[in-house]
Amino acid sequence: MPRKNGSQMIYDPASVRQYFDEFSEREWDRLSDSTQGRIKYRIHRQFLEKVVRPEMHVLDAGCGPGRFAIDLIKLGANVTLVDLSSVQLELARSHLSKANLLQEATAIQQGDITRLDTIDDSTFDVTICYGSTISYTCQEFPRALEELMRVTRPDGHIIASVTSLFGTLRLVGPLDARDFIRSADCHLDWKAVLSGEQIVYTKSGSPEFHQPMVLFTSVGFLSVLEDAGLTVIEMASSNPIVPSFTAISSIAESVGASAELERLELTACKAPGLLDAGEHLIAVAKKTSVGSE
Ligand SMILES: C[S@@+](CC[C@H](N)C(=O)[O-])C[C@H]1O[C@@H](n2cnc3c(N)ncnc32)[C@H](O)[C@@H]1O
Repeated sequence: MPRKNGSQMIYDPASVRQYFDEFSEREWDRLSDSTQGRIKYRIHRQFLEKVVRPEMHVLDAGCGPGRFAIDLIKLGANVTLVDLSSVQLELARSHLSKANLLQEATAIQQGDITRLDTIDDSTFDVTICYGSTISYTCQEFPRALEELMRVTRPDGHIIASVTSLFGTLRLVGPLDARDFIRSADCHLDWKAVLSGEQIVYTKSGSPEFHQPMVLFTSVGFLSVLEDAGLTVIEMASSNPIVPSFTAISSIAESVGASAELERLELTACKAPGLLDAGEHLIAVAKKTSVGSE
């Protein structure tokens, strides 16, 4: 089991729920109101297009305002949306409705990925858990992973993105995060970073770590998934070249340059040397059937 910081904050679903209730529509805007956000969306979306086929049963766990659920429905999947935040679920209903897809959703329900009690074993062909939802479960992340695996059928896929330790540290520059730098040692357990473990719990919220989280290096995330019994097919970084919050106005105002940056990011996101560069680490994994290896 991963070591935890002495003063680490424990998973507090009420606080995460309140944060995302208040974050509201900004969660939708995150992937559309900047060049980097739109590229982040494209990087994540490509894995859905690769794995999801018409008529598959798909869980969008931590669906937020439903951006990826809309894509999944457009791919022909039967999609169940689950989120902790009632505000995010209301936004998901509203965005699905605007896209004329609300009736196509199989179910939209409030739930916690650490305890998906209302969902039977092996219900889904594919389980998506995008946007750090696993990271917000802090020390409960092994249980969240266990639940996501339980509701996924043998030979089904789990596609998840978590918060990257090193990618998040790369935000210090664009955010000019003086307060964080002054107290970095209080927020991060460097012993865990430098040990073989590569999984780090933030100790408390800070302007950059808005909620307590578990952060992963690519090595740490890979071993967590493999230890859980998953076969990792592919890993990627989002976004590997230009971190969020970086001022890139001359690129952004040129359609050609923005398209070129998107092409570069989509190519670079799978480069092994850049896996730890983006704020999100993505993994496409398969739940191997017992006895199939
Ligand atoms: C950063 S948003 C990502 C939303 C969406 N998956 C996306 O990538 O656009 C994280 C979402 O996970 C939800 N969430 C956080 N912890 C959760 C938990 N334990 N169970 C279910 N949902 C959770 C939040 O309410 C929020 O809507």
